[in-house]
Amino acid sequence: MAADPEALSRREALAAYAAGTAGCTKCRLSSGRTQVVFGVGDPNADLMFVGEAPGFHEDKQGYPFVGQAGKLLDQLLGGIGLSREQVYIANVIKCRPPGNRDPQPDEIEACESHLFRQLELIRPKVVATLGNFATKLLSGKSHGITRVHGRPQETTLRDRPVLLYPLYHPAAALYTPAMLRTLEDDFARLPGLLAEEASPPAQVIPFPVPAAMVAAPSPQEQLGLF
Ligand code: URA
Repeated sequence: MAADPEALSRREALAAYAAGTAGCTKCRLSSGRTQVVFGVGDPNADLMFVGEAPGFHEDKQGYPFVGQAGKLLDQLLGGIGLSREQVYIANVIKCRPPGNRDPQPDEIEACESHLFRQLELIRPKVVATLGNFATKLLSGKSHGITRVHGRPQETTLRDRPVLLYPLYHPAAALYTPAMLRTLEDDFARLPGLLAEEASPPAQVIPFPVPAAMVAAPSPQEQLGLF
């Protein structure tokens, strides 16, 4: 089967953009990193995960979610029949904050154009935000993850409609069994959300049919000839 040219060019565009970010010095985190952790997965994925920032292992290996939290993410993906090769995974911040501290507002501001460009190129249908930082940035709201997890929100990112689906961060669920159960339950809704987004419901025509949707009568009809 011939490769989809749009999918191919998307892959190339993302690879070119990733190469361009490798030397990024937009914020102070560039001075302490081993490397920029851009993202991993299928550039044509319908489902994209956005975490917080690389940790120790991610900084060393160059890929997001390769430590303990990443193992849990892989497990959760496996539970819904997906692998990390079938989704795209990125972070709000592309460089490791020292000692894994929280990203600071100016670091998020400096880095967010990279994430928005990834979203623009990948064009996912569903974006699952992992934890507070990704949820607040992409929803544009200050509601905490405890309040909004598991509640899909229709939103617009870079002029494209996207279903945002906030989830607890796997690192937070690692040592809190109740949170892990909630995360598993929220994950279980993902296949249904993806299916809905892949085939949005047919347009519902209201009744009575609005005049604008009815074909204009022919001149003969207007003259009462028929
Ligand atoms: N936590 C994150 O938010 N991202 C990673 O890549 C790893 C841990």
